[in-house]
Amino acid sequence: MKTYLVTGGAGFIGSNFIHYMFNKYGDDIRIINLDVLTYAGNLENLKDIENRDNYTFVKGDICDKETVSRIFTENDIDYVVHFAAESHVDRSIKNPEVFVQTNVLGTAVMLNCAKAAWEQEDGSFKEGKKFLHVSTDEVYGSLPEGNGYFYEDTPYSPHSPYSASKASSDMLVKAYMDTYKFPANITNCSNNYGPYQFPEKLIPLMINNALSGKKLPVYGDGKNVRDWLYVADHAKAIDMVINKGRLFETYNVGGHNEKQNIEIVNIIIETLQETLDDSDSRKALVTKDLITYVEDRKGHDRRYAIAPDKIRKEIGWEPETMFKDGIKLTIKWYFAHEDWMKNVTSGDYQKYYNDMYKV
Ligand code: NAD
Ligand code: TYD
Repeated sequence: MKTYLVTGGAGFIGSNFIHYMFNKYGDDIRIINLDVLTYAGNLENLKDIENRDNYTFVKGDICDKETVSRIFTENDIDYVVHFAAESHVDRSIKNPEVFVQTNVLGTAVMLNCAKAAWEQEDGSFKEGKKFLHVSTDEVYGSLPEGNGYFYEDTPYSPHSPYSASKASSDMLVKAYMDTYKFPANITNCSNNYGPYQFPEKLIPLMINNALSGKKLPVYGDGKNVRDWLYVADHAKAIDMVINKGRLFETYNVGGHNEKQNIEIVNIIIETLQETLDDSDSRKALVTKDLITYVEDRKGHDRRYAIAPDKIRKEIGWEPETMFKDGIKLTIKWYFAHEDWMKNVTSGDYQKYYNDMYKV
C-alpha cells in the first residue's frame, strides 16, 4: 500500500485530488494531508472522507521543519504531492512576503525533509520514492495574443510576485534533481476551475456575484486569455505523472480551452440563466448589465496557453472536459453547495473583497 503525503490538501486542487484518489483507489492507498488551514484551506472540502481509516489530517505549516520531519519519521512516505502554496496573484501584488515564505521557504523545507528521509548512505535514493511538485504555467510569463504556446523548455519569465515565488520553488526542485538526483517531477498547469474553488478567483467570484446581483468586475479590457482546465482532469494528470512520469522531468498540463475573460463571464451569465428556474427570484438579477470594467491588474499577463504534447505522448494524458461541459458541472456544484459558499464568504472574505474592489 502506497502512502501519499499531500500538502495543501484542504485547498481547491488538493481537496479535489484527494477525492479523485479515494474514488479511484479506495482502501488501497493511504493519504496524509498536511495543511495549515490559511483562509484558502477548508476542512469542509473533505467532510465526506475525513473518517476514512486510510486518511489522516495533520494541521501544520510546511515551513515548520519539526512538524514535517516528524511526519517522515513516523510514516514511510512513498510520494509527496506538494500543493501547499499561497496561490492568488492579486494577494501577491498586495502582500508579496508571505508568498516567498510559503512558496519558496516551505518548498525548501519539504524538499529537505523528503531528502533526509529517502536518501541512503551511498547518496542514492530509496527505490520507488517520488516528490511531485505542483506548479503553474505562470512561471513562463505572458504570450502574445493568438500566437504560440508554453512548452517545457520555454524559458522562465515570471512577472507577478506569485509567479516569481512559484518559479523560485521550481528552481529549487530542479536544483535538487540536478545536484542530488533527487527523485522528483514538476507539473506546470494552466488555470483550474471546478468544485471547492475559493471565490477570490475569476470563475467562482463571478458565479457568486452574479447570484447575489452584484457587479461582475472585469479587469482592463477583458481580453486577457487563460487556458482553463477542469480540476478533475488535473487530478488525473497528477496521478498519471506519479505513476508514469520519467524522473527529473517536467510536464505541462493544459486544457486546450483558451478563452478571453469576458467570454468566460458571458458564458457564466448565459449558463446561470439557463440553469435557474423561472420561479427563482435571482433569475431577473443575472444579466449582462452586471458586467463592469474595472482598473486593470498591475502587470497583468496577457495570455497563457499550454501545448500538452509531452504529457500526451509520454504518459497518455489528455484533457477530457470541454469548457462548455465543465462550467455546467461547476455551476451545478455551486448550486448544490450554497452553504459552502455562504460559509467561505462570511467573515474575512468580506474585508478582502471590500479592500480589493474598493466597495
Ligand atoms: P489554494 O489557495 O486553494 O489552496 C492552498 C492550500 O495550501 C490551502 O489549503 C492552504 O491552507 C494551504 N497552505 C497555504 N500555506 C500553507 C503552509 N504554509 N503550510 C501548509 N499548508 C498551507 O490553492 P490551489 O488553487 O488549490 O493551488 C494548489 C497548487 O496548485 C498551488 O501550488 C498552486 O500554485 C498550483 N496551481 C494552481 C492553479 C489554479 O488554477 N488554482 C493552476 C496551476 C497551479
Ligand atoms: P484568476 O482567477 O485570479 O487567475 P490567474 O490570475 O492566476 O490567471 O484570474 C483569471 C483572469 O481573470 C485574470 O486575467 C484576471 C481576471 N480577473 C478579472 O477580470 N476579475 C476578477 O475579479 C478576477 C479575480 C480576475
